Amino acid sequence: MSLPLNGIKIIDFTHVQAGPACTQLLAWFGADVIKVERPGSGDVTRTQLRDIPDVDALYFTMLNSNKRSLTLDTKKPDGKKILEQLIRESDVLVENFGPGALDRMGFSWERINELNPKMIVASVKGFSDGHHYEDLKVYENVAQCAGGAASTTGFWDGPPTVSAAALGDSNTGMHLAIGILTALIGRDKTGKGQKVAVSMQDAVLNLCRVKLRDQQRLDRLGFLEEYPQYPHGEFSDVVPRGGNAGGGGQPGWVLKCKGWENDPNAYIYFTIQGHAWEPICKALGKPEWISDPNYSTAKARQPHIFDIFKTIEDWLADKTKYEAVDILRKFDIPCSPVLSMKEIAADPSLRASGSITEVPHKERGTYLTVGSPIKFSDLKPEITGSPLLGEHSDEVLAGLGYGTDDIKRLREGGVI
Ligand code: COA
Repeated sequence: MSLPLNGIKIIDFTHVQAGPACTQLLAWFGADVIKVERPGSGDVTRTQLRDIPDVDALYFTMLNSNKRSLTLDTKKPDGKKILEQLIRESDVLVENFGPGALDRMGFSWERINELNPKMIVASVKGFSDGHHYEDLKVYENVAQCAGGAASTTGFWDGPPTVSAAALGDSNTGMHLAIGILTALIGRDKTGKGQKVAVSMQDAVLNLCRVKLRDQQRLDRLGFLEEYPQYPHGEFSDVVPRGGNAGGGGQPGWVLKCKGWENDPNAYIYFTIQGHAWEPICKALGKPEWISDPNYSTAKARQPHIFDIFKTIEDWLADKTKYEAVDILRKFDIPCSPVLSMKEIAADPSLRASGSITEVPHKERGTYLTVGSPIKFSDLKPEITGSPLLGEHSDEVLAGLGYGTDDIKRLREGGVI
């Protein structure tokens, strides 16, 4: 099947998660992504958290499908020469090295632009250029703390908490992918490449915008009416952690269902949206709440919202999370079971849509991975296994004009 990004060649100089998530997405959509890795070791995630001895870890396989792997020591003169050749004939170079590493390697933006003025150079860093922390190396949780997620996540009586969702890593990669596609469209118009950069702090902040909204409301009003702290608790001058409260203005909470004593995920998320109040009352068998002035408006409900949640939990006590959602969905109430990873892995709908998919791998057999969350009417990306270290070195070098003897010499010299 012809894919929209067929013909786009990407030098994938990324490692760990933020960069690889971006280039994997572009590979799914047809780009030829050549992952450049250090000979002998490769991306550190190949060996991190291994579940099978001597086989690429799932951490690697789940972030590098649909790519080719070229081993190349880009600090050696022959390695630099090969990288220069690749730059001349590629469209995009993506990297997420520590600050200054690409420059130290001799491939500054100016140099790359000189080699190929049409090239798009896309970077992930912890902090943006010129930021007072621009020199810092950054991992996921560091970014969550720097971007406002940690200070606003968790419970008010506990410490700042990071999310399990990769807001700093994969999320930054997704932002970068949008930047790269935008720069490619821009290049069609101008004929020129450009530098695209996303900092992990900025990408986290972009997802925390409602908390910046709340800071300004708090500054003006001194309270936040949809937070559990209102009206009985106290507010300081910073946005507090709101536990499981809804961030969009609809009160909601994680509520216990049948079996919660033994199953850590026997819960649903229940949202009390203003316009859903009448159906909620009907679903719960509390029709008298519909017109009761203590319940009929969001403002009237807020002072005793936890009593309301308790009543809903009483109603949920003899229902599994699935049974509860099956009843509530008939009343158009926004809710969901809290799903464990085990349940997600087996979910037939996620499998049918390709959001979860099994992929063959040369050494580990098949593995389960996350497929494209973006669905198109005219294309369904086929997810293929991740490459072994240097699996495509010979093929890529042959494409650059290197013969068998040259390749042997490069291998013996530790260049590939
Ligand atoms: N050939 C030769 N050298 C290579 C190479 C190759 N193919 N690939 C990488 N290297 C070198 C780099 O040039 C660098 O050398 P230098 O520091 O001597 O100049 C060295 O390997 C280390 O690179 P670096 O990226 O700094 O790795 P690290 O393990 O020290 O740090 C991170 C890891 C993730 C903290 C760091 O890369 C970083 O902060 N990246 C930006 C933010 C980010 O993406 N974070 C991770 C999100 S998952």
